[in-house]
Amino acid sequence: MKIFIDSADVTEIRDAVSLGVVDGVTTNPSLVAKTGRPLAAVIREICEIVDGPISAEVIATDAQGMIREARELAAIHPNVVIKVPLIAEGLRAIKSLISEGIRANATLCFSAPQALLAAKAGARYISPFLGRIDDVGGDGLELISQIVTIYRNYEYSTEVLAASIRHPVHLVRCAELGADVCTIPYKVILQLLSHPLTDVGLSKFLKDAKKTP
Ligand code: G3P
Repeated sequence: MKIFIDSADVTEIRDAVSLGVVDGVTTNPSLVAKTGRPLAAVIREICEIVDGPISAEVIATDAQGMIREARELAAIHPNVVIKVPLIAEGLRAIKSLISEGIRANATLCFSAPQALLAAKAGARYISPFLGRIDDVGGDGLELISQIVTIYRNYEYSTEVLAASIRHPVHLVRCAELGADVCTIPYKVILQLLSHPLTDVGLSKFLKDAKKTP
């Protein structure tokens, strides 16, 4: 399974990359706004840090506007993937971007029919937001399962990029269900590593090592 970091903070992206487990990056307008920097500058710097797909999101809500923004973002680096909201104009934009060789990540996916349409339009990635579905009393993991099944049934090449990951169990279940990618906040990447028995065991080994003559 591929692990992306869901962040626009270059310091935490660098830290995560140094762990050797990061295959790519996803950003969104909220994450970029938190940095207080322009989108293009943030994406350019991330592309210098990570050699893998870097998702940058368009702001326009009409297909032509999305395509214009996508061209500018894609020109920053060949690794840039354009995040397009899963609305009708987004689907139109995705279809057109493919003909220009620009990869799209269909974002804000909350249902299986949306995911099916994104695959038919040719999106490279589908981003179901499983944490946000859980937040409103739904079952985000059930959606991941449905999308994985549908894509397998019809051999769509669109990769399932599970997003809005809130805790380690989300990642484990997504891996069991066969999601291609999980995009994870840095805080949760660190949680994946942490186990109290590892800490207790290490501390005992270090203590005992001092007794070795
Ligand atoms: O980047 C999209 C997604 O991962 C957002 O997650 O935590 O804002 O629901 P969250």
